[in-house]
Amino acid sequence: MSAPESEKARRFYNSNTSLFLNFGHSSGGSIHRAVWAENINNREAALHYVDEQLCRHLRTMGKEQNGQIIDLGCGVGASLCYIANNLPVTGLGITISDKQVQLATSLINQHNLQKRIACIQGDYCDLPEDLPRADLIFAIESFVHGENPARFFEQAAKLMKPGARLLICDDFINDTGLVNQAQSGSWIERFKQGWLIGSLLTADETDELATQHELRLIEDLDLSPWLELGRPRDKLIALLMKLLGKSALNFQYLRMLYGGNALQYCLQEGWLAYRLLVWEKPYE
Ligand SMILES: C[S@@+](CC[C@H](N)C(=O)[O-])C[C@H]1O[C@@H](n2cnc3c(N)ncnc32)[C@H](O)[C@@H]1O
Repeated sequence: MSAPESEKARRFYNSNTSLFLNFGHSSGGSIHRAVWAENINNREAALHYVDEQLCRHLRTMGKEQNGQIIDLGCGVGASLCYIANNLPVTGLGITISDKQVQLATSLINQHNLQKRIACIQGDYCDLPEDLPRADLIFAIESFVHGENPARFFEQAAKLMKPGARLLICDDFINDTGLVNQAQSGSWIERFKQGWLIGSLLTADETDELATQHELRLIEDLDLSPWLELGRPRDKLIALLMKLLGKSALNFQYLRMLYGGNALQYCLQEGWLAYRLLVWEKPYE
């Protein structure tokens, strides 16, 4: 029997997080893509685009002073630190990787945020009962790793205070039928294998799961046009992956490049989209 997706993700991030931080395009520890939206004119701002959207939601909710935030799949806590450096909120990060907990704890200490921000190891599909309720919960490029998205929503919805918001920024398939077509299906499969994707849903399917917990979709942005696709480094990786083929899957870091290369292709072809979805829990 193969290991559950959460265990595969734990091993993957334990082995690769330092590599991501040293060789990736990270800024201050972010392990997500840069979004070059309108008016964004430097890499730092592009990497914090989604973090800024989170700050915007806290402000519109009137929770910028004392809001409680939870990051499900927090990496090394970079988004939490960014938000807490800009707004006096308190936050908790949850990651499946014990190595990331160590790195997050030192990042939090480095920013002197240990009184307001903490990071613990845990599975977002099986959270401890005693967690604080939150005003804003988010998952940036972590939702797709889970093999049980229904369970993700169940856990997230339980943690949301009345009026709270849930933001997911991730890759979504544009049409479920694409997995059954020869060309799109094979590229999507490469993406899933390389990036340890546990579930790939359409935005509508995701919203149906949210609706089961009475969450109401209030924002749906397609960020795909603002991603960097086909840069010289991406073309070089595409060439390398053509040479290596499936054998890249035998090496942790190359596996990530294999998945990333397939993802670029799927985004360029319009089979997948990088979207930001936000739901609100009604007041009782
Ligand atoms: C691509 S990284 C994104 C990290 C962070 N959100 C960021 O933007 O920097 C994916 C994250 O999802 C986490 N993750 C994957 N499966 C998880 C699970 N079942 N429970 C908790 N975290 C999980 C990984 O540990 C990792 O931190």
